[in-house]
Amino acid sequence: METTVKKMKEDSLNNARILIVDDQEANVLLLERLLRASGYTNFVSTQDPRQVLQIYLKSQPDLILLDLMMPYLDGFAVMQQIQSRVPQGDYLPILVLTAEVTTDAKQKALTMGAKDFLTKPLDAIEVMLRIRNLLETRHLHQRLQNQNELLEERVLEQTRELEQARIEILQRLAATAEYREDPTGEHPKRVGETAAMLSHAVGLPKAQVELIRLAAPLHDVGKVGVPDSVLQKPGKLTPEEFEQVKTHTALGAKILSGTQVPLLQLAEEIALYHHEHWDGGGYAGLKGASIPIAARLVAVAEAFDVLTHERSYRKALATQEALAEIAKQSGRQFEPRLVDALLKWHKRRELPRRMREAILAG
Ligand SMILES: [Fe+2]
Repeated sequence: METTVKKMKEDSLNNARILIVDDQEANVLLLERLLRASGYTNFVSTQDPRQVLQIYLKSQPDLILLDLMMPYLDGFAVMQQIQSRVPQGDYLPILVLTAEVTTDAKQKALTMGAKDFLTKPLDAIEVMLRIRNLLETRHLHQRLQNQNELLEERVLEQTRELEQARIEILQRLAATAEYREDPTGEHPKRVGETAAMLSHAVGLPKAQVELIRLAAPLHDVGKVGVPDSVLQKPGKLTPEEFEQVKTHTALGAKILSGTQVPLLQLAEEIALYHHEHWDGGGYAGLKGASIPIAARLVAVAEAFDVLTHERSYRKALATQEALAEIAKQSGRQFEPRLVDALLKWHKRRELPRRMREAILAG
């Protein structure tokens, strides 16, 4: 196994792309010969420094062997051109080969991206050793980068999974609480979607719309404390039974209380106030804008969903009938602008259907 890995690394190093830049043909030929003799197969050379940028962009070399003293563009200018094009986070080794290097020149070359120096005349062993070391460093750097990317991807994936689990747990909790009234578990989800649509329609910020979408389904979580005999009673409730139903708001809020999580804090607020009426005639007598906006939204969304779906005590209404019922309560049970938003939304949805029907009818 270890031998295979070593072999793979050897292959990848021998296949590394190397760019030779030297204005002297003899130097280029010497370097090419040395590379070939050491098993490198993938190299390209130029004696014209003005061509380097173009070659670099085309062949994306793993290593550049660069002469410093050249006509038109010296090695420093070449490095300057290349550095601005090296992808961020990439490690591009440049090995500077030159007849004489002063300390100042070395310093300058280092700041411009040179990773090592060799003085001419070149020593074959030394050249090959430096080339190998620089390629190995690049190889390790790339491996590390790949591993980091992989790790980041895994963290992202786990975060996504956790987020999904969080949403599902809330949905399942809501469905459990409503199971006796709605075994399909769809009612809480629909209320969430309608409340989100309405909150978007009245211009709430996107983040709040998303919180409402997730928190609204929990509005009736307190119904777990209401007995079957009351919740599933087909006929009219007695005043005592109605009092029992009314406890579900406070109980829901209690179940959701004491949290630092904004989503659950919002769910608590909705659970507690979703039976308040715009005119003050609801469970706790809160009125108008003193009722939290999320609870006002859920009140409309829930009423509409309940009216349009069958319950043990009555049949489902058609959409238009349900909308008419809601409209009657505008300014009484519900905030007028939310009722308007619901009516407008359905009008927009209805229009294409009616047009289709009209076309089909000729
Ligand atoms: Fe409720």
